[in-house]
Amino acid sequence: MLGTFTYCNPTKIIFGNDALDHLGGELAKYGKNVLLVYGGGSIKKNGIYEKVLSVLKAAGKEVYEDGGVMPNPTVEKLYEGCERAKAANADLILAVGGGSVCDYAKAVSVSAYCKDDPWQKYYIRFEEPDCKIIPVGCVLTMVGTGSEMNGGSVITNYAEKLKIGHVFGEQVFPKFSVLNPEFTFTLPKYQMIAGIYDIMSHILEQYFSGSDDNTSDYLSEGLLRSLIHSADIAVKNPLDYEARSNIMWTATWALNTLIAKGKTTDWEVHMLGQAVGAHTNATHGMTLSAVSMAYYRYIFNYGISKFSRYAINVWGVTAEGKTEKEIAEEGLLRMETWMKDLGLTMRLKDLGVTAKMLPDIAKSTLVMDGGYRVLDRADILAVLKASL
Ligand code: NZQ
Ligand code: ZN
Repeated sequence: MLGTFTYCNPTKIIFGNDALDHLGGELAKYGKNVLLVYGGGSIKKNGIYEKVLSVLKAAGKEVYEDGGVMPNPTVEKLYEGCERAKAANADLILAVGGGSVCDYAKAVSVSAYCKDDPWQKYYIRFEEPDCKIIPVGCVLTMVGTGSEMNGGSVITNYAEKLKIGHVFGEQVFPKFSVLNPEFTFTLPKYQMIAGIYDIMSHILEQYFSGSDDNTSDYLSEGLLRSLIHSADIAVKNPLDYEARSNIMWTATWALNTLIAKGKTTDWEVHMLGQAVGAHTNATHGMTLSAVSMAYYRYIFNYGISKFSRYAINVWGVTAEGKTEKEIAEEGLLRMETWMKDLGLTMRLKDLGVTAKMLPDIAKSTLVMDGGYRVLDRADILAVLKASL
């Protein structure tokens, strides 16, 4: 563990099948006006909306609604949310939904009173907020992004063909998050497995960097093994509470800053996936699964020790009589087989991408420098071509 860092995670987590019972206690800490933010309507179908509303009413809150947050929330919706938050004079933004809803709530929280254009300030210039920030709380219904316990907020600008995440500081983390694994039971299988792969990708983005002996890597391996184990159970029986609860908790720890400690971290898979998302509006986890194998096969030789360690410690590859390269390749093959068995999208063409679109997608891809190899534009195009 050779890096230097500070660590603080201010989000209070309320976890379990009775978690919503504790929402009232959290609400009491904030003023009367609550902006209730949600997505396209799943919470109205599965009854979560009614449950949350009755807690809000019992707590004596004045509820203002901002529904219709789309998957991969847009900059136009963000502008609309700012107006709603100001009109409500919101004391708290309560996000009820998945990563998109939580991300959007955070974006509104720092944008409503921002004097500048928030897209330019936060997503192009990457500046930090210098205005009043409205506190955010979450009731999570979709597992994967880790947004419930981090400062991440991803916004898509289709006109500019950019999907960009800003990782805000502690003051923007949700103040509390209600995590009831049963609230994820109604997720369609496609979303459930996309979320599972999003979790895996978050862990790998942090794991595949650096070469020091780092506790973060041991934590990552444990999280990955738990995830693989529980995913295999959940995909056969989505109502298995134990498996779904493990997946939910793994997702939170996969991206709440802990396993990044002492790491440079990579994030190139996410940059590729986000560029694909900006051109297709595809489901986030599937954009990652479609590019991952091509990317890892492109770079693994540059981080061969970590890739062979991954094969042994996560995928159970035996080392005897094999070179590091053979071990690493076997690990990647096992990973690929597992992904296919889970039902993940393995090809960009299955997300509506055509060969003609690739140069533009490559142009929208941000280049990161914390992984085992820094790609140039030609490398990025090669990875995208191999993913098609
Ligand atoms: O909109 P509704 O009707 O609620 O339907 C949603 C949506 O269609 C549905 N859903 C959610 N909970 C459900 C449910 N359907 C039935 N039952 C439930 N209980 O699922 C669909 C997807 O939801 P969404 O919130 O878009 O998914 P996810 O949680 O994967 O969030 C994706 C967004 O998060 C960003 C992504 O880029 C994307 O914009 N990310 C945020 C990160 C962060 N904050 O740190 C990191 C991630 O890497 C990621 O980039
Ligand atoms: Zn992700």
